[in-house]
Amino acid sequence: MADDNKPAGPDLTKGVSPADFVDGKLLGHVGDDPVLLVQLGSEVVAIDALCSHYHGPLAEGLVVDQTVRCPWHHACFDLRTGEALRAPALSALSLWQVEQGKDKIVVRGRREAPKPVRKRANGAPDKIVIVGGGAAGFAAAEMLRREGFSGAITMLSNDGAAPVDRPNLSKDYLAGSAPDDWMPLRPDNFYVDNDIDLRLETTVAAVDPKGRRVTLANGDTVPFDRLLLATGAEPVRLDVPGASQPHVHTLRSFADSRAIIAGAADAKRALVIGASFIGLEVAASLRARGLEVHVVAPEQRPMERVLGAEMGDFVRALHEQHGVVFHLKDTVAKIDGKHATLKSGSSFDAGLVVVGVGVRPRLALAEQAGLAVDRGVTVDAYLQTSAPNVFAAGDIARWPDPHSGQSIRVEHWVVAERQGQAAARNMLGQRERYKAVPFFWSQHYDVPINYVGHAEKWDEIKIDGSIASRDCLLQYRLNGRTLAVASIYRDVASLEAEVAMERETARRLRRNARLGN
Ligand SMILES: Cc1cc2nc3c(=O)[nH]c(=O)nc-3n(C[C@H](O)[C@H](O)[C@H](O)COP(=O)(O)OP(=O)(O)OC[C@H]3O[C@@H](n4cnc5c(N)ncnc54)[C@H](O)[C@@H]3O)c2cc1C
Ligand code: FES
Repeated sequence: MADDNKPAGPDLTKGVSPADFVDGKLLGHVGDDPVLLVQLGSEVVAIDALCSHYHGPLAEGLVVDQTVRCPWHHACFDLRTGEALRAPALSALSLWQVEQGKDKIVVRGRREAPKPVRKRANGAPDKIVIVGGGAAGFAAAEMLRREGFSGAITMLSNDGAAPVDRPNLSKDYLAGSAPDDWMPLRPDNFYVDNDIDLRLETTVAAVDPKGRRVTLANGDTVPFDRLLLATGAEPVRLDVPGASQPHVHTLRSFADSRAIIAGAADAKRALVIGASFIGLEVAASLRARGLEVHVVAPEQRPMERVLGAEMGDFVRALHEQHGVVFHLKDTVAKIDGKHATLKSGSSFDAGLVVVGVGVRPRLALAEQAGLAVDRGVTVDAYLQTSAPNVFAAGDIARWPDPHSGQSIRVEHWVVAERQGQAAARNMLGQRERYKAVPFFWSQHYDVPINYVGHAEKWDEIKIDGSIASRDCLLQYRLNGRTLAVASIYRDVASLEAEVAMERETARRLRRNARLGN
């Protein structure tokens, strides 16, 4: 958008010249609606210019084949149908009618999009049960209906709130800049309108894969033909005296975020235990609420294990510039009332304490059901567990990631949603290999960090640009191969790295198939 709040670029109803396109794209508007023109060979298509996730500017994204990818969190839209092909966007974009002359291209009103072509599989189930009302569970339910599944969908969640935008719980919502009504992934009527039987505050106590039913904590049973386990992860609790007091919080649910906000209203100083992504996002949000914030963590540098020393130093300096006080290489020994004592001996009062020391996948149901478990629920390339009618997705799933060549389990929003979508198609019998390259983002004040790929260790970090200037792309390399990239304000390069990793993965899978692996 331009400064005066008028949409940027030319009025497309008056026409533009093919010569005005840059890199095959042109941003303009129809009335107040920003519209993106994209050249696909000799044809020009027009699509809404803002991503349906958080309104990222698609004009600054990347066109790949017949799709456009969002620069902010790598959603992907079909330019022929407008469909949101890849999470985190879940809603389609409008297509616009284009009149294409030799020297002039004019855009008229919105046009009806052709229906996406759907695969049909034999032996579709009648009843699908989803355990979990989070990223993976919601994305699966939404995709089942998108795919035209007309059987029963029952979604069981022990949360009191319908699926919410969990990443926002530590960011804008906690900072006070996102209102409550931004948080639900869909309004309540979505579930009724789509005949999804969403049961909140409903705990699943046991799963019987052979008998094909789940048992609820109240003793009721729910039968299934296919089951998706998407129970997510549980914050690790702190094991020190005083950690169970009411002003000591963890953060996973909407209710947790609200409780922290309520606590922040009465506190002057906050203690954040753990310099994790969530811990530091909480620190930034509490600074935005005007609290003095102290972060205590055992490591030398925040986020070094995932992002490396240079990025860790940058993140620390960024938070210090915003007034956060770090107590690194230290831990909390006890919390006596509001008085926290560190192992080093220093101590201070904090009216609000937030513990962000990591999460554990919720594996109890999978273990009880006798599914194969190995630091996560073991799934195959189709997200199927060791029981044929049971699938798993999201934070609990350990899957064979074809890019890294390892079995991995990650805790990323976009991965959970994409796995939920792939599991939905596979529960319908489509046999879609899950091969999306992992992606996550984190936001600290006005600095977004995007990460593509998966690197548990590396022997080199190649830095392009300047981290301090917030204009950089870091490649995490092992034996000369790029396993992952992290970036700040290098969105196109980050998307290009994702495409390169996808193509490398496709080559690897083709080679393995030739070799019969
Ligand atoms: C505050 C916060 C900020 C985050 N920010 C980011 C970010 O910026 N970027 C990023 O990539 N990732 C982020 N994440 C991580 C991301 O949210 C998770 O990876 C994602 O939510 C995992 O999805 P999931 O469906 O596996 O689990 P969840 O979203 O946790 O959903 C699990 C669901 O299962 C339900 N459940 C569990 N056990 C049972 C049971 N026995 N019976 C019934 N229901 C049950 C829970 O109530 C919940 O509804 C953040 C996480 C948090 C907490
Ligand atoms: S704004 Fe487009 S993916 Fe988030």
